[in-house]
Amino acid sequence: MYKDKKVVFSGVQPSGQLTIGNYLGAIKNFAEFSDEYRCYYCVVDEHAITVRQNPAELRRRTYETLALYIACGLDPEKNVLFVQSHVSGHAELGWILDCYTMFGELSRMTQFKDKSKKNTDNINAGLFTYPALMAADILLYQTEMVPVGSDQKQHLELARNIAERFNGIYGETFVVPEPFINKTPSARIMSLAEPTKKMSKSDENENATVRILDEKDVIIKKFKRAVTDSGSEVRALDGKDGIINLMSIYGAFTGKSFEEIEREFEGRGYGDFKLCVGEACADALAPVREEFKRLMNDKAYLEDVIAKGAMEAYRDSLKTMSKVRRKVGFIEKPRF
Ligand code: TYM
Repeated sequence: MYKDKKVVFSGVQPSGQLTIGNYLGAIKNFAEFSDEYRCYYCVVDEHAITVRQNPAELRRRTYETLALYIACGLDPEKNVLFVQSHVSGHAELGWILDCYTMFGELSRMTQFKDKSKKNTDNINAGLFTYPALMAADILLYQTEMVPVGSDQKQHLELARNIAERFNGIYGETFVVPEPFINKTPSARIMSLAEPTKKMSKSDENENATVRILDEKDVIIKKFKRAVTDSGSEVRALDGKDGIINLMSIYGAFTGKSFEEIEREFEGRGYGDFKLCVGEACADALAPVREEFKRLMNDKAYLEDVIAKGAMEAYRDSLKTMSKVRRKVGFIEKPRF
């Protein structure tokens, strides 16, 4: 039945505790596609090792990210939830696409530039070719649409260029994917400590991020400490980056527009506003936290989901893989 459906693919790195940026920019939107599309949601552990990880922590976070997918509403019966390194086609196609991706293109990637600045002692080749592996993730399943936050737009454009280049050389091989980025400001949630910087799960300053799994009191405390400006009006005006970010977060959790928020907080000051943002966020995430805890206590169920996801994704990847192998001129694989 799914063969008639268009494909959606997205991934999250298990490289830290997920933030409300990951939630509002990406994961919260994933479930909307489950009925109409064939959806693959992947925990991209191969991407995570482009930055040095503690192995035990990486393993734990891989389970946690998968459990969070489910806790955020992704039904394993309706979506293929799986771990990237369980399907060999990702690395295999990643290598092939490396050979169709230009050094100049990779050098222009802002994520590479940012991460090399942060990890000066480990600017490895994987960090550089990361976007070709990401293209492989997407193209392996003939994906039409990729829901992501706006920080991934440049990588998506590169994936499209790689697909078009490959198709140009060998004839139609890959579907050229489209990014799906929220039109609302939640496509880019900013740091609470430095509101001109993206909120990032690997930020070392705990006050900069709100984690999906933070307890209510922690969430409220973090919003209380959020950096704003010296004014007192809750309005989306130039230069009020901190307030605009809090308005985006409040709007995303309550469904209210900027105008509605401005009206609601007229004459009420920042303290009051921050408390309401904290409460809206904590209350919206409470059921996710509860469900997450329940799932983490049911390892057998998670293992079942992981095994089923790996099997389905592997099976579905074979067609593209064999097509690509043939097109580039590899001889048939021996059967053993
Ligand atoms: P990652 O793990 O950094 O983030 C996962 C998703 O969360 C979004 N996101 C944000 N959205 C709004 N505001 C923020 N502050 C914020 N921070 C993160 C990201 O845009 C992303 O959608 N390269 C990807 C993972 C990946 C992938 C893929 C995604 C690997 N292969 C194939 C899509 C398709 C990444 O590092 O995401």
